Amino acid sequence: MTRPFYVTTPIYYVNDVPHLGHAYTTIVADALARFHHMCGDDARFLTGTDEHGQKIVEAAEKRGLTPQALTDQVAPRFREAWIDLGMRFDDAEATHGFARDFIRTTEARHKRVVQGLWKRILEKNPQDLYLATYEGWYCVGCEAFYTDSQLKKNAADESVCPVHERPVSWVAKETSYFFKLSAYGDALAAHIERHPHFIQPEQYRNEVLGFLRGGLRDLSVSRTSFTWGIPVPDDARHPGEAGKHVMYVWFDALTNYLSALGDPFAPAGEAGAPDVTRYWKSVVHVIGKDILRFHAVYWPAFLLSAGLPLPRTILCHGWWAIGGRKISKSIPATRVSAVTLAGDLAGASSVPATGIDAVRYFLLRETPLGNDGDLIYESLIERYNADLANDLGNLINRSLTMLVKYGAGGVGTRDAALAGTGAHANLARVAAEAVRDARMALDGFQPSRALEAVWRLVREANTYIAATEPWSLAKDPAKQPELEHVLHTLAAALWWTRLLVAPVLPATAAALDGWLGANVAERDARWPSEDAFGTDLPALAPRQSTPLFPRIDDKRSAVLLDKWLPKEVVAAPEPSPAAPTPPAPIAATITYDDFAKLDLRVGHVLAAEAVPKAKKLLKLTVDLGEGRHRTIVAGIAEAFQPAALLGRRVLVVANLAPREMRGVTSEGMILAAGDDAILALGTVDADAPPGTRVK
Ligand code: MSP
Repeated sequence: MTRPFYVTTPIYYVNDVPHLGHAYTTIVADALARFHHMCGDDARFLTGTDEHGQKIVEAAEKRGLTPQALTDQVAPRFREAWIDLGMRFDDAEATHGFARDFIRTTEARHKRVVQGLWKRILEKNPQDLYLATYEGWYCVGCEAFYTDSQLKKNAADESVCPVHERPVSWVAKETSYFFKLSAYGDALAAHIERHPHFIQPEQYRNEVLGFLRGGLRDLSVSRTSFTWGIPVPDDARHPGEAGKHVMYVWFDALTNYLSALGDPFAPAGEAGAPDVTRYWKSVVHVIGKDILRFHAVYWPAFLLSAGLPLPRTILCHGWWAIGGRKISKSIPATRVSAVTLAGDLAGASSVPATGIDAVRYFLLRETPLGNDGDLIYESLIERYNADLANDLGNLINRSLTMLVKYGAGGVGTRDAALAGTGAHANLARVAAEAVRDARMALDGFQPSRALEAVWRLVREANTYIAATEPWSLAKDPAKQPELEHVLHTLAAALWWTRLLVAPVLPATAAALDGWLGANVAERDARWPSEDAFGTDLPALAPRQSTPLFPRIDDKRSAVLLDKWLPKEVVAAPEPSPAAPTPPAPIAATITYDDFAKLDLRVGHVLAAEAVPKAKKLLKLTVDLGEGRHRTIVAGIAEAFQPAALLGRRVLVVANLAPREMRGVTSEGMILAAGDDAILALGTVDADAPPGTRVK
């Protein structure tokens, strides 16, 4: 019986359309599924869309649509994007040889299992779901609550979510069901300690252990303030709550990984869920680091509470930026579609689908899985030219040229004695190592390492052509047996290259099948066994290839960069944070007596209001401990709301001659640093009484 291997992507929120970040997660999962299938495992791939919750309600409202209409519009775009990237859903078994599923959380098969999970928790551990009230900071982007200490401050001193860096909203007291997450911290930590493969790579395992050490708070898992979600099943303990709650969107969404396998909670007598039994324990959840906590803490805690086995692995990757900028809705230049990029790269290729392969290759090769990546367009072109056009493209082209020219329609003949000598033996050794190293790397979820290993074979095969010079051998009839062996070895190298690149470069593998005349369907291709180099060739009938990855020359590179690079940056470079505007030169020296003429005092701001018709001015009432209050006009209105100044201790030049500004007499000056964009008030860090002298 083959081993099951079940790999999932996160399900994507339908308030966005697919971009490069989503494509990355999906391609990683796809490559793993293809690899495991080739190794003879019973692979299964799942992706889909996350369609409930407040975020979707808000996105639909903005567009004047119902949530259902929005999800019906956007979900197919994700499905189509993955089809464009080489994945089949309808005829997956026939094409890829393994099952692929696309699940939507609005489907009945999903809703039923989510409610089943809730009920199972109630049966097994009723104390884990209890009714209470909550209030707190909520980030709609994350669909998650945050405590004060988890929030960050932005430049305007607002509390913002640490992931989206956007202001959070306060959710006023609401009755909801809570999940007793706090009861599971120790069990989760013990599981992680005992299963080194549970969270990978290592850095994320440590992150989760650190998070658990900080203690877990119970989690609000239902909402009553909107209805776009899966209804919480009626609860005999709280009949008054019936029909009021929908489930927290993460409880709903995470369950997709189970619901796509069938209904494990189906009543006795109904057909069980054989796919759950078969695949569940082998599951690998591929996720981005922003959603680690949900997968490595909440999800396993729900499963433990329901008495279900935990997933095998949570495989966490970093974030991609585009040209150094975080992918963000507000920066159009970062909204890169993998499919569009692939179309651009396909350019002059005779096999347009290889543009997809180029994107897949770059994403998986450029950055070790787990680290953050940056799509630098110049590096994309460089890597394309070096690895794909030069190394791989040349190997394919040159080998097929040799085979066609000197092979008389065949692939030569292997000479067992020659195979053990010189360059022939060397190539066989490198090939065996590539098969072993790439397999180990992919088994260990390190696609960039796997590709490095495969490229050692590709480069060595190019070296082999140069070393054996088939064109010289062809001139000497006495060397015919050696030529035959060289041709056979080249065919073997190409065949293994075709097999080893297939998980990441499926279109290239298909093109090679065509040129090699290999009558092997994708679903039947298997990962080679290390010791079979040169002895495992299927029947082949090589033909001359057409250019697969034509080199991107300077002219085309300029055209592509012009298309890809954001225009606004080329036209007017933004000052980068690394290179701030230099401060103004220091003014001429003054004597101590000059300084002593300044009377600086601590002031306490009692009132603040805008000055009519003066955009920049605020009128402040300031206490300097004089028994009367001063009026001071300050040019800080663009940086501060009046209310934000109330109660602040500020530094005041107290002996400045009064001055009339917009009809108001200002009796002093407030010290501040910076300009309108970044303005900081001069202040004191202890609670000095008003009027204290500043020296
Ligand atoms: N709906 C949730 C997941 C629920 S899974 C039960 C969600 N959706 S998402 O659409 O916002 O993101 C899905 C995945 O895309 C996440 O793994 C996220 O990390 C990934 N990416 C989104 N932007 C990304 C980058 N810029 N780089 C890499 N991956 C990124 O979260």
